[in-house]
Amino acid sequence: MAILVFFLFVFVATSSNFRAALAGDLGQEFDLVWGDQRAKLLDGGRLLTLSLDQASGSGFISKKEYLFGRIDMQLKLVAGNSAGTVTAYYLSSQGPNHDEIDFEFLGNITGEPYIVHTNVYTQGKGEREQQFHLWFDPTKNFHTYSIVWNPQRILFLVDNIPIRVLNNGERFGIPFPNKQPMKLYSSIWNADQWATRGGLVKTDWSKSPFTAYYRNFNADACVPSATSSCTSMPTTATPNRAWRTQGLDPNSRRRLRWVHKYYMIYNYCTDLKRFPQGRPRECHLLRN
Ligand SMILES: *[C@@H]1O[C@H](CO)[C@@H](O)[C@H](O)[C@H]1NC(C)=O
Repeated sequence: MAILVFFLFVFVATSSNFRAALAGDLGQEFDLVWGDQRAKLLDGGRLLTLSLDQASGSGFISKKEYLFGRIDMQLKLVAGNSAGTVTAYYLSSQGPNHDEIDFEFLGNITGEPYIVHTNVYTQGKGEREQQFHLWFDPTKNFHTYSIVWNPQRILFLVDNIPIRVLNNGERFGIPFPNKQPMKLYSSIWNADQWATRGGLVKTDWSKSPFTAYYRNFNADACVPSATSSCTSMPTTATPNRAWRTQGLDPNSRRRLRWVHKYYMIYNYCTDLKRFPQGRPRECHLLRN
């Protein structure tokens, strides 16, 4: 029996393109692609840091690309006076009509709240911004920022609390990202032209370098391969793959409402000035 279970395990593990990668060594998962020594792997790859100074920012990209999955990573954001800095953490495909699922963290002056900016691009079109404050100081400790992406919806989670959901509205003719594999990107850069309420506050370079910290990356995701495109997924449920059908149960729906009530500071769906011809259709057709 044990032998059988073992062979079954080997079979499943090798035949599947579903990867559950808890990366001990972030160097195996990411390429440091920008900023020279401003992007660093420390502690045997368990910690990754990105820094920004007046000369340059820095960034990394995942080696693998994913088509649906759950991506978790712990981030500790730039502390102190981080106004003008933006730490972006997002999934993106390549090419002109790209898809993208974005977290961006907009720094602030000491003691004032970060803004978590979110957006989703489908086939090159974004304009679906929602922004939030957080219920904790994201510079004091590591917190987990997750993207759950399955054929039904996209969830943005912070410490496992959903802050945003975007349901698939293809049945109403609303495009949804479900064909283009995406890589995970992160970078830190200077955006004091716009990030501080339209450039109100400038980056204080005397405080540089500005450093963000990353650890505990986990991608429980489908990696497209020659034998699987990931678009038709096996339906056998396994515990790790709850993301494949993950949605909002009553409890997470309640938490989402709590975040929206107390921490949401911008929602494109309620920005009537911006859409005088009518709000985007997903705003009234879907329960997002
Ligand atoms: C910075 O702090 C101010 C004052 O609390 C707040 O209005 C703003 O949303 C914060 N974030 C940014 C990026 O300006």
